[in-house]
Amino acid sequence: MLKGRHLIEPGDFNLEELEGLFSLAEKIEADGAYLRESCRGKLLATLFFEPSTRTRLSFEAAMLRLGGSCLGFAEPGSSSAAKGESLSDTIRTVSCYTDAIVMRNPKEGAALLASRVSDVPVINAGDGGHHHPTQTLTDLLTIRRFRGELGNLTIGFCGDLKFGRTVHSLAKALSRYPGVREIFISPPELRAPDYIIRGILEKEMIPYGEAEKLEDVIGDLDVLYMTRVQRERFFNEEDYIRLKDFYILTKARMENAKRDMIILHPLPRVTEIAAEVDGDPRAVYFKQAKYGMYVRMALLASVLGVV
Ligand code: NCD
Repeated sequence: MLKGRHLIEPGDFNLEELEGLFSLAEKIEADGAYLRESCRGKLLATLFFEPSTRTRLSFEAAMLRLGGSCLGFAEPGSSSAAKGESLSDTIRTVSCYTDAIVMRNPKEGAALLASRVSDVPVINAGDGGHHHPTQTLTDLLTIRRFRGELGNLTIGFCGDLKFGRTVHSLAKALSRYPGVREIFISPPELRAPDYIIRGILEKEMIPYGEAEKLEDVIGDLDVLYMTRVQRERFFNEEDYIRLKDFYILTKARMENAKRDMIILHPLPRVTEIAAEVDGDPRAVYFKQAKYGMYVRMALLASVLGVV
């Protein structure tokens, strides 16, 4: 039962609960009428202290499609945060008005703090460079749809593995499935943090590797997870400029990939995937964005207790 539960990081739901969400999302996708009015009268708050397109709009679309309503803000300048209000006071207040809160905040740990003061479920839509568990639900559902299962695969994470919260969450979530191998492809400055590599992969004895060149490993991958260099988390612009075009996936580079490898990207994409790759049937990132809405519908219906 997910009713009333918070989702702060991928470990918050067990594998059976995740499986339940994925089946629900697939049911919603297959039958447009299913759960259509189930959240009538319920209110969702979307509090975005950082920019967003897909996460905020897919949550709002999800709630509206379930018959519920949304309120909130898309940038903190229009909220009392601009007057110096603490996050806990904001959350305490918003939890008086609404049935669930979706929040994105630049500070690591902000969602956990919010969950401790909220009377309603808090869903983490990204806390700084830490976690992004609903992107992980999206990614897992996409992999499951295209590969048929979540185990027995080699996934390559490529790009900014240091600041990329979607990578941290997905790497952690996949470590719970059997037969998963994880390859981390990044420049040395943007390697995945120790709490992922040592704290999870080594501790759980998950086979993993690290590489600097995508071409050295692309032929081994079943899933290639591309990411954007997270400009907003860099301390200086020169480092960003030096690293931003480190990886550019092109048609030519795809020639060495398996015929059934899939390319995921949480989006937004900047230069790391050339537009010429979009037409390749292995490029599934826009479908992934769509699955994000279905899985968020499943999540909202579940935490609101209407299914
Ligand atoms: C990601 C994020 O916000 O972490 N975007 C998203 O939610 N789909 C990835 C990114 O911004 O690069």
